[in-house]
Amino acid sequence: MAIVIDGKATADSVIDAVNQASAMLEERRGAKPGLAVIIVGDDAASHAYVNSKSKMARECGFNSVQHTLPVETTQQELAALVTSLNDDPSIHGILVQLPLPKHLNSESIIQSILPEKDVDGLHVVNAGKLAAGDLETGLVSCTPAGAMVLVRRTHGGDLSGLNAVVIGRSNLFGKPMAQLLLNANSTVTIAHSRTKNLPAICRNADILVAAVGHPEMVKADWVKPGATVIDVGINRVPAPEKEEGKTRLVGDVAYEEIKTIAAAITPVPGGVGPMTIAMLMANTVIAAYRAAGEKPPLPGFW
Ligand code: GUN
Repeated sequence: MAIVIDGKATADSVIDAVNQASAMLEERRGAKPGLAVIIVGDDAASHAYVNSKSKMARECGFNSVQHTLPVETTQQELAALVTSLNDDPSIHGILVQLPLPKHLNSESIIQSILPEKDVDGLHVVNAGKLAAGDLETGLVSCTPAGAMVLVRRTHGGDLSGLNAVVIGRSNLFGKPMAQLLLNANSTVTIAHSRTKNLPAICRNADILVAAVGHPEMVKADWVKPGATVIDVGINRVPAPEKEEGKTRLVGDVAYEEIKTIAAAITPVPGGVGPMTIAMLMANTVIAAYRAAGEKPPLPGFW
């Protein structure tokens, strides 16, 4: 039976380290780390995510600022807000919640964030630094950074000789995850919707990371016995067994059948999910220390 990787407990330990680092910075410099989160429109799920990010930032002792903009916000108005936050020395991290309403061009907004304030790790400068193996001066996208902490907790920092397969090739997750795994010396395959023989490729993985957005798509016969399985999916599905009209969350892997085959697996909820917000807090404290010309006192475990 697989070890269940406890993302909540790991996230709590990251948050403890962030809290201490934040308090030390304030004590020495009189300045709190500042995180600005921008949300445009009224998508309920996005509002729930953003509220939990802002709340956690307050709990970490940050200067937490939330900009809630109406759906009719123009590109110019949003760009002007990003510029003012870029210029504000009390703000060290800027996050624009995605997706933006369709009439807005998210790419130009993301690329207008100063790379040193890009706590989402989406700016091309940060993506480039990760691709070049520079984890010292860049910022890494939060979900892959969090998934990598869970991999390291299971395997240690050196993944030499291990095959890793990432299913999914997005800029937000798949590509940076593959770079982190490569940086830790594993042999990495990126699979995606056009990949042939996906189950056979997955069966080769010592570390299998699924970010496909399809409920329970990865089945037991896709998994090598003894593998570590990291499930990045969060899918809401009907749960008539609870009560008519009720729903439940499932990942991208068929957890119940895979937990008897894998050596370690992340649950959904309670696996990668809690790590994303924890790593956003870590990135903000890292950005604040760098802005003060100091080395962040956090373990470089991602
Ligand atoms: N929407 C869903 N996940 C994310 C994320 O990690 N960052 C941003 N900015 N938007 C998201």
